[in-house]
Amino acid sequence: MDINSIDWRPQLGNKTDYGIGFVGCGGIVQYAHIPAYQKAGFRMVAAYDIKRESAEKVAELTGTARVCESLDELLADPAVDIVDIAVMPWAQLDVVRQVAAAGKHMLCQKPLSDNFGQATQIVELARLAGVKQAVNHQMRWDSGIAASKIMIERGMIGTPTDAQIQVSSATPWHMWPWLATASRLEVQYHSIHYIDSMRFLFGSPEWVTSRHAKYAGQGDVRAETKTITVFDYANGLQALVAVNHYNMHAEASAIFRFLGTEGAIEGTIGLMYNYPSGRPDTLRYSQKDQPPVDLPLDEFWIPDAFVGPMAGLMQAIETDTLPATDTADNLNTLRLIEAAYLSAAEHRSVRPSEIGA
Ligand SMILES: NC(=O)c1ccc[n+]([C@@H]2O[C@H](COP(=O)([O-])OP(=O)(O)OC[C@H]3O[C@@H](n4cnc5c(N)ncnc54)[C@H](O)[C@@H]3O)[C@@H](O)[C@H]2O)c1
Repeated sequence: MDINSIDWRPQLGNKTDYGIGFVGCGGIVQYAHIPAYQKAGFRMVAAYDIKRESAEKVAELTGTARVCESLDELLADPAVDIVDIAVMPWAQLDVVRQVAAAGKHMLCQKPLSDNFGQATQIVELARLAGVKQAVNHQMRWDSGIAASKIMIERGMIGTPTDAQIQVSSATPWHMWPWLATASRLEVQYHSIHYIDSMRFLFGSPEWVTSRHAKYAGQGDVRAETKTITVFDYANGLQALVAVNHYNMHAEASAIFRFLGTEGAIEGTIGLMYNYPSGRPDTLRYSQKDQPPVDLPLDEFWIPDAFVGPMAGLMQAIETDTLPATDTADNLNTLRLIEAAYLSAAEHRSVRPSEIGA
C-alpha cells in the first residue's frame, strides 16, 4: 500500500463556527490553543482569567475575544457555545460545576484533576447536565501518533508485540512554576500524554508496573522527574514508557517504536527535541526484506495537534455523538496514572481495575 495515502491530519466537521470562550488564559492557551484555532478558522469570542492581564493578552492575540470580568459573565454570553478550560487541575472541578450549570459544552485540560475522585465528579457533572465534555489529550492528533494509529488499524504491523515511547530531554520546568511544588509530577503531567497514546493505540493493559525517581540536581522540584512504566497486555504485548527530564549533557532523544508480527513503525517525537518550538515528527515503516519507507510529516505537536480535541468536540455537538476524547473514557487513562503511582509506592504490579469504581 502507498504510505503517502495515510491522512494523519486532524479532520474538521461540517460546522466549525461554534463560539469558544476561554477560562484560564495562561501559557498553554497563548502558545498552543490560539495558534491552532487560528489555523483551523475557529471562532474565539470571549476570555476570562482571574488575572485580568492574561485575559487581555488572549483578547489581543486572538483579535476577536472580548475580556469578561467574571466566569458568570462569560457563561451568560450567548455567543459562547463551548468553554475551553485551561486552569490548573485542582481548580478545574469548580469551573466545570459552573459551566455545567450554565448548560455549556466544554473542553477540559489534562489531567482532568489531580484527584481521581474529583475527575469522576467532573465527568458526572457533564453527564447530569447533558452537555458534551472532552479532554485535551491532543497527542492523539500528533502526526506520528495519528499516522501510527491508522497504520496499526490497517494491519500494517500485524499483531502488535512491543511498543515503546522513550524520551530523554532537558525539560524547561520554569515554564510551569506551579509544578515545582506538586506532589506528583512526571507521570501525572507529562507521561500522561504517552500513556494516553498507548491506550489510544492498543487499549488498556492488564497490568501496570511503574518505577519513579528524582534527579540528584533537581533542586526545589519536589516530585518524580524520571520514570519507567511498563504495561503488560493479555495477548503478550508489552508497552514501555520511559522518560527522563534531566538529560543535561547528551543530545535530546524522543522516540516511538511500535513492533508487530508483520512490520514495524519507528519515529521521533519532534516537540521534545526543543520544547515548545520543537520540530515535526518523523516516521519510518519497515517490513522484513523490503526497504524502509518514510512518511513525510510536516506538522508540529504544538500547536497543530491542538486542533484535534476541539474539532472532535465540535463534531460531537454537531452529530450528537461522543467526543473523540470523551471524559468518561478518559477515566480509563486516569486509572493507568493512578495505577502507576500505586505501583511505584507499593513496589508491585497493579491491575487498572483496582482503581476507582
Ligand atoms: N494539553 C497539554 O499538552 C498541556 C500543556 C501544558 C499545560 N496543560 C494544562 O493546562 C492547564 C494550564 O496550564 P498553563 O501552562 O497554561 O498554566 P498557566 O499557569 O500559564 O495558566 C493557568 C491560568 O489559569 C488562570 N486561572 C487559575 N484559576 C482560575 C480560575 N478559577 N478561573 C479563571 N482562571 C484561572 C491563572 O490565572 C493562569 O493565567 C494545566 O491544567 C496544565 O496541566 C496542558
